[in-house]
Amino acid sequence: MSFEMILAEKRGRVGLITLNRPKALNALNDQVVNEITAALNDFESDDGIGAIVITGSEKAFAAGADIGAMANFSYMDAYKSEYITRNWERVKTCRKPVIAAVAGFALGGGSELAMMCDIIIAADTAKFGQPEVKLGTLPGAGGTQRLPRAVGKAKAMELCLTGRMMDAVEAERAGLVARVVPADKLLEDALATAETIAGYSLPVVMMIKESINRAFESSLNEGLLFERRVFHSAFALNDQKEGMAAFVEKRKANFRHD
Ligand code: CAA
Repeated sequence: MSFEMILAEKRGRVGLITLNRPKALNALNDQVVNEITAALNDFESDDGIGAIVITGSEKAFAAGADIGAMANFSYMDAYKSEYITRNWERVKTCRKPVIAAVAGFALGGGSELAMMCDIIIAADTAKFGQPEVKLGTLPGAGGTQRLPRAVGKAKAMELCLTGRMMDAVEAERAGLVARVVPADKLLEDALATAETIAGYSLPVVMMIKESINRAFESSLNEGLLFERRVFHSAFALNDQKEGMAAFVEKRKANFRHD
């Protein structure tokens, strides 16, 4: 597929999206988000893709929503168009695992895009922040909701209320980031992680993602019940038979994703 503001390619069983608006530090406007949506639709409907990576450039994952594009919005412009907030639902609703590989700035909507993904792997150059307060506004794509769930109330309040940036080490310590890697190894590491995931049974991977996400939407007892029922349903998969048979026969499992 060819796009203007992103690159999208398939590498084996991994779908790779690279934000490609370098002059604006990958600032996110409706076109960028529409293109991400189209690439995700393609990856999601392709049985040959088992995991997805979203990355940016060395300097910026994404420096936020495009400020110039919304600077003169009226309330009705924002309300009617849901500029920059509407289409991102596609990242959230993607059923296959999505890894954000973050180098450089992940600010405002950029940090929010990373948090919509399932795993954030950060380069040691990564900087996360919600600087909207400095612009006389607030996060609009989940920053006030996902950040406290990831790092707790105190740090989320501090970051959103001061607009300061958090480096990769602090982000990992706070629980926002799964792992920090040297910048020159970021993409290689994220693709290898995605390949590992994509090598497992796709329906099982989707069930794990769905079950973990359920933890954020339900009480513990409801979540445990959901997990148990999904666990039971996994016994209907050929891949469960294959995975357990391979263990018993001391060989590598050959998952067929069904
Ligand atoms: N929107 C539009 N353009 C942006 C941008 C953004 N969010 N961030 C950077 N750019 C543009 C700059 O205007 C500049 O363009 P020109 O060369 O044409 O002037 C280019 O990218 C390079 O940026 P800088 O010269 O500023 O680079 P720097 O290295 O000096 O600073 C930075 C980098 C600290 C990230 C700085 O660009 C910055 O503070 N950017 C804005 C970050 C921000 O406030 N993000 C939140 C946006 S609001 C939001 O995201 C709302 C939401 O929740 C949905």
